[in-house]
Amino acid sequence: MPEVTMFLWGTATASYQIEGAVAEDGRGASIWDTFTHDPGHVRDGHTGDVACDHYHRWSEDVMLMADLGVNSYRFSISWPRVHPEGRGKANKAGLDFYDRLVDELCAKGITPAVTLFHWDLPQALEDEGGWLNRDTAHHLAEYAHTVSGRLADRVPMWITLNEPFIHMVFGYALGTHAPGKALLLDALPVAHHQLLGHGLATQALRANGAERVLITNNCTPVRPASGSPEDLRAAEAYDTLHNRLFNDPVLLGQYPDLSAYGVTTLDAVRDGDAEIIAQPLDGLGINYYNPTRIAAPAEGADTGGLPFEDAGVTGYPTTAFGWPVVPDGLRELLTGLRARYGDALPPVYVTENGCSQADEPGPDGVVDDQARITFLDGHIEAVRAAIAEGVDVRGYYVWSLLDNFEWAEGYDQRFGLVHVDFATQKRTPKASYHWLRERIAAHPEP
Ligand code: BGC
Repeated sequence: MPEVTMFLWGTATASYQIEGAVAEDGRGASIWDTFTHDPGHVRDGHTGDVACDHYHRWSEDVMLMADLGVNSYRFSISWPRVHPEGRGKANKAGLDFYDRLVDELCAKGITPAVTLFHWDLPQALEDEGGWLNRDTAHHLAEYAHTVSGRLADRVPMWITLNEPFIHMVFGYALGTHAPGKALLLDALPVAHHQLLGHGLATQALRANGAERVLITNNCTPVRPASGSPEDLRAAEAYDTLHNRLFNDPVLLGQYPDLSAYGVTTLDAVRDGDAEIIAQPLDGLGINYYNPTRIAAPAEGADTGGLPFEDAGVTGYPTTAFGWPVVPDGLRELLTGLRARYGDALPPVYVTENGCSQADEPGPDGVVDDQARITFLDGHIEAVRAAIAEGVDVRGYYVWSLLDNFEWAEGYDQRFGLVHVDFATQKRTPKASYHWLRERIAAHPEP
């Protein structure tokens, strides 16, 4: 079993975004296969059918990480590769793939950090209601049991869910991600069922000897657009939804006050659920991309019943996605979590941070992504500052190792430290890759 005593420097990826091979070795369909093949959902009709072809090129990709000098790799398992029908019979060939990957990582001294669910739900479970159906939480636990039964002897770090907030909002409330449902606030049961799944999966992982169990939440420091009472109230409501809905039940054992949304109790909650959800954790995974500025809805604005509007953060450089680059927001977020949860906050791992840029090789073949270097340098400095202010941060993972399938944006947004030519699958380490290697080698701690 690899050691996890030092600061973890890693890269992060997700199965559907890199693997391809969607119909190989008995993999079942996922909601993203269905969604991408239904025209009109993804930019330019892109799909993850081939993606980075990592299913066949994994060994080259592990070499890239070894050369980069990271000591950890966060990747997700494709649920339908392991349970093609979402439950029941496991697919040996699917498990064998991850078994080989984990062996290779261990051989290279790279600690595997496995995410169980990074949004590619088996289509068979979606056909039964997906995360609107409570049973899906139990199926997640069964899948956690299968995977950890095979890998927990070599994988010391487990992440049950990736960004359940984003999955609920984009997948079930707005419909811009798979499974493409636009239920607005009627999507709230998806929050509870994912959290219940997290709790049940945590129990299953521990039963198989998993050493460290985390959940990864997407968080954002929320700034009110002005000091007016209306904007302050709106910002608080947004903070509740984005930052507290998935952290409070896990860390404090209760849901935050959702009255700003007209919700007094969540109908999906049953007796005993709160205890299952609030299992002690060994860490909290945090994904940070940018802060958010929130205003009260303008007079007559159609917000679909939501008590806030995104006022946009201005005055900062932006990424290719148009997201503001605010490194100090990461320090603000981490110290804010510590202030909010105090001793209930377990060690924190920044499980994703990165930026998309329009990176292409120059005539000399070099991909000179200076803006990403500036981005990473600033955010690593923010982690250092948060640690100096007393936050127990134990790891930092760059999103992402490779340019990959960026969900509704297809292959348009490039987040990789390594450029991928999707026509030839040629990998070219960018300038930021070489910079990060030097940075890690020179400073084993941030
Ligand atoms: C997700 C990744 C995604 C990244 C950039 C995170 O929300 O976990 O899958 O690619 O952000 O959008």
